[in-house]
Amino acid sequence: MQFGRTTLSKFVIEHTRASHGELGALLIDVAAAVKTISAMVAKGALGGSLGALDSTNVQGEVQKKLDVLTNEAILRHCEWGGQLAGMASEEMDDPYPIPAEYPRGRYLLVFDPLDGSSNSDVNVSVGTIFSIFARSTAGDAELGDYLRPGSEQLAAGYAIYGPSTMMVLTLGNGTHGFTLDRESGNFILTHPAIRVPEDTREFAINTSNERFWEPPVQRYVSECKAGKSGVRGADFNTRWIASMVAEVHRILIRGGIFMYPKDSKDPSRPGRLRLLYEANPMAMLIEQAGGAASTGRQRILDVAPDSLHQRVPVILGSKNEVERLERYHQEYDTGADRPFVSPLFSDRSLFRDEPRA
Ligand code: AHG
Ligand code: MN
Ligand code: MN
Repeated sequence: MQFGRTTLSKFVIEHTRASHGELGALLIDVAAAVKTISAMVAKGALGGSLGALDSTNVQGEVQKKLDVLTNEAILRHCEWGGQLAGMASEEMDDPYPIPAEYPRGRYLLVFDPLDGSSNSDVNVSVGTIFSIFARSTAGDAELGDYLRPGSEQLAAGYAIYGPSTMMVLTLGNGTHGFTLDRESGNFILTHPAIRVPEDTREFAINTSNERFWEPPVQRYVSECKAGKSGVRGADFNTRWIASMVAEVHRILIRGGIFMYPKDSKDPSRPGRLRLLYEANPMAMLIEQAGGAASTGRQRILDVAPDSLHQRVPVILGSKNEVERLERYHQEYDTGADRPFVSPLFSDRSLFRDEPRA
């Protein structure tokens, strides 16, 4: 029984009075969409929604059935209420205009409807990420309205569909976690004012990309891997789930650092993750919980977007580790820490280290 506990609705109504209830009403619609998606994802193979479609999204990624269905769920739950000027999503090339029959509002909703969707086929946690901005006036949003730095977000959050479904939210005054009580259908405040520990001995990165990373990231990871016998003097643990939502959730609960840094695998991409609907909302949640979020060279929330689906390097989590990585980038950029290259082992050397077959 949850009598007397704080529901998500009560929390957002209490914390959004300044917007005369409009932001609160929008967040309650987002929560309704999340409950629909939670039920859809939980059906697994019984829902007939697993697997891929023939289509690709604007980023050239093969769409899963669930990518498309979850995108529709958010559009339908949020378009009618009169709070929105428009929506944008990972799964739509262009911003979504509010249909003619509904009133327009001031808010812009951008989202990744199903983050980590490749994990849905293998029954591993996936999530939904969202971010909310405002225009100064109500009306139809233009592309430029979406291209605001993350520091201007009014609200950001994610839902994680794991053993339990949770919604983690910030309105710029701390990061708060709500757990879905499946019997009553309410999200209950279970994790108020989450704090990310400043230190950690746990790091998350896709090491298959190691050869494409920049030297500061290679340095950081090799020092972590050297453990007690290296310069860090401590053993580290590693985790990689391939659902950013699940990685960020773990970091909010027990600390850690998550990296999807700049790499040279595809020079046209400055990173893997998208700024507007992946990096920015997660950066706001992490900062509001006392952590840090950086590209390595700049605070993520200060990056000025130039396109809707722009990618960005992401390094976020426990503050002291993120700051250490920023220092490594700075030392590399200023030449203070150029890696030593032996002339004996250069490309034309007799002692060249030949790759093994
Ligand atoms: P999406 O499913 O929305 O495309 O995002 C997946 C993202 C992120 O959640 C995760 O951290 C990363 O992609 C995993 O990338 P790799 O497959 O390169 O590990
Ligand atoms: Mn994603
Ligand atoms: Mn996605």
